[in-house]
Amino acid sequence: MKKVITYGSFDLFHKGHYRLLERAKALGDYLIVGVTTEHFDEQRGKLNLIDPILKRIENVKATGFADEIIVEDHVGQKVEDIQKYNVDVFTVGSDWTDKFDYLKEYCEVVYLPRTEGVSSTMLRAETYELVHMGIMGSGRIAGRFVGESRFVSGLTIDGVFNPHVESAQRFAEEYNLDFYTGDIEEFYSKINAVNVAAPHAFHYTYAKSALEHGLHVLCEKPLALTKGQAEELYALAREKKLVLMEAIKTAHVPGFLRLLSTVKSGTIGEVRDVEACFTRLTRDELRELTDMECGGSFTEFGSYALLPILKILGLDYDSVEFKMFLAENGVDVYTKAYFTYPKAIATAKTGLKVKSEGQLLISGTKGYILVPSPWWLTHEFEVCYENREQNQKISTRFLGGGLRYELSDFISTINGYGKSEYKLTAAESIALAELMEKFLAARKKLQEATKR
Ligand code: CTP
Repeated sequence: MKKVITYGSFDLFHKGHYRLLERAKALGDYLIVGVTTEHFDEQRGKLNLIDPILKRIENVKATGFADEIIVEDHVGQKVEDIQKYNVDVFTVGSDWTDKFDYLKEYCEVVYLPRTEGVSSTMLRAETYELVHMGIMGSGRIAGRFVGESRFVSGLTIDGVFNPHVESAQRFAEEYNLDFYTGDIEEFYSKINAVNVAAPHAFHYTYAKSALEHGLHVLCEKPLALTKGQAEELYALAREKKLVLMEAIKTAHVPGFLRLLSTVKSGTIGEVRDVEACFTRLTRDELRELTDMECGGSFTEFGSYALLPILKILGLDYDSVEFKMFLAENGVDVYTKAYFTYPKAIATAKTGLKVKSEGQLLISGTKGYILVPSPWWLTHEFEVCYENREQNQKISTRFLGGGLRYELSDFISTINGYGKSEYKLTAAESIALAELMEKFLAARKKLQEATKR
């Protein structure tokens, strides 16, 4: 019996897939089809699959060509499968010509001509309404954002708004955007989504006015500086049926999600402590050190450091206390938030003028997990036990600057394929705003005490 094997994502099953399977089957007597997992596709950089794996398997099955369907979930599996199933022929479409020649050591390799004029990518583009996005603010984060957006389908960044028009113009020219403006009404009229990348003090106001104008909002962190403001924004988004997302990229990074599921599955027992740190030494003239109202290390980096604490230990802490060092202008340059939970404690540490190890350490009753710096761009982590022989290192792929993951979740949520709400829930985002409010109150108290 001649055995043939082929692999694919088979997303939004189309006639190219059907014809490929038909011809693959005709190459032998028994056809094995490998369907990729979402996790594997994410690792390969395909972030926008629409159909879940069960649907993709069902579609392959419905053709009647597959004698056996398997799941492909890791690099190197093709070599393993070919040996394990005693495969005679490996085949894929001609878009992969040469790419699988290394399999000739194990079996015959056949590249079948690809069906012209159709692909999952094309169908996804048709299914997704193209999101026309504008950027509010033209600072450092906005620049990184435009660069990363080029890797996400279903999105174009058309223009930029800044009340300082020269700054908007410079930005539009540098990143080749269609338009720039200092007129907010004109800006809103040309797009259907915004990225609020203006300084912190403007986040709430801009997010609110964009929602009122019927636009989806991806707002840089912190979304708001009081609980009330955040609640108001989420209520407004719900009422208007718009997507509002606080842009904390770590929450969408595959490695961080893997870390959370590892912790939640009990591998290190019950978690008793979470310690997260984010510091970056900054030049004196930058906004985070000069903006006396909203600058400082905690409003700048606190959202990152608080994220794993809230995700792992939840929102029901018993108390939180802030200790900090202030610069002469009253801005905090090093801050520690101390949490107590009924059965755990946690600290979030941020610094602009103090440097520390940027690690995340999660301690449990059976072991601990160490995520080395930069843990907020989670590439790898180690699960450690008393008996070091049981230690396990886990690494995941991390593409570009990481912003593409949150952007891709934002776009699929707008298109109604959002499976991402759990990554940063509205309740978590509101809890973060409440923590900013508590922190700013503590800082104000300290500023006043210092003045006296
Ligand atoms: N295929 C084909 N003709 C097409 C599209 C795909 O023969 N028009 C083949 C591919 O070469 C591959 C298999 O179908 O052997 C599964 O491909 P997959 O990557 O799932 O489909 P694409 O439509 O190419 O997906 P994408 O656009 O996401 O890359």
